[in-house]
Amino acid sequence: MTMLDAVHPVAYDQDAVILLDQRLLPGREEYVRCRTTDEVAAGIRDMVVRGAPAIGITAAYGIALAARLAPDATAGFLPAIEDAARIIGASRPTAVNLHWAIQRMMRRVHALAGIPAPQARAALDAEALSIHEEDVAMNRAIGRHGAALIPDGATVLTHCNAGALATGGYGTALGVIRGAREAGKSLRVISCETRPYLQGARLTAWELVRDGFDVTLITDNAAGALMAKGLVTCCVVGADRITANGDTANKIGTYTHAVLAARHGIPFYVAAPSSTLDPTLPDGSHIPIEERPADEVLFVQGHRVAAEGVHVINPSFDVTPWSLITAIITERGVHRPGVGGYGFTQQGG
Ligand code: MRU
Repeated sequence: MTMLDAVHPVAYDQDAVILLDQRLLPGREEYVRCRTTDEVAAGIRDMVVRGAPAIGITAAYGIALAARLAPDATAGFLPAIEDAARIIGASRPTAVNLHWAIQRMMRRVHALAGIPAPQARAALDAEALSIHEEDVAMNRAIGRHGAALIPDGATVLTHCNAGALATGGYGTALGVIRGAREAGKSLRVISCETRPYLQGARLTAWELVRDGFDVTLITDNAAGALMAKGLVTCCVVGADRITANGDTANKIGTYTHAVLAARHGIPFYVAAPSSTLDPTLPDGSHIPIEERPADEVLFVQGHRVAAEGVHVINPSFDVTPWSLITAIITERGVHRPGVGGYGFTQQGG
């Protein structure tokens, strides 16, 4: 692979959903073929694929695959796909894109009622592909809108991985960074390592180095000290769910960066497609937060780092209140808060 090859975290060939195994990066680039609904759900749950838009796309292809595996007879076709929707929908709770993609696929499934199974399958393949292609287009639009917010010569701090690996391609937060470079700006990126799963160290650093960016890795704990020294121009992060008022669930540690950014007068931007908006929830207190296994904290690269018998709390996400977010960038443009929040009313199409 050369530096110019695009990163493809998810693909589909009607026989399987094909996932780049992100658990192995940056050491190895290997792909997992998920041939059943259970394998697709496991791929999401076990973090073979991760990142809100990427798991939405995986779920959409998972529904298309379920239709390929379902019996032709009308009596069996719909229940088989509904089962798959339930199984895949239960794989991870926080990213709303997963449910958004499943709901969109199921609307299409219901609209196809009475159509012979072969045609229905082709239509569902096409719908999943549209979800994938639209995601890339939304990311590029986010990149164009967000580029205007990044000053030439900026040092941009990001957390977790909201890049090509986390989306259909190009990325949301990293889409803004790519968009700024495409607009002719020079910039540096600070990638926070993102304990405990190390998406920043393992994935963002890999993706940006591969793409020729000037990227510096820091421990999450170093962010405040760098901000205090004036070494951070702005922060750009992705999102897993944004409620009506703009409260934003993203990778654990995002809230800490937002508080620090506010303390130091540094702009804090969230970049996400409208499929990440959840206007059905008034505020972030309603967002289900995934709790991940204790072993992710107790072990580093297979080595136990804490005493036997210690308790662990391992929330995978936190919620940044809207009031700490300078602007939210979607494919529709740059949204600024009004009195009482952002007032989002519409999710993606
Ligand atoms: O647990 P992960 O790796 O799925 O968490 C990913 C994040 O928190 C990302 O920042 C978010 O999904 C946005 S990806 C464009």
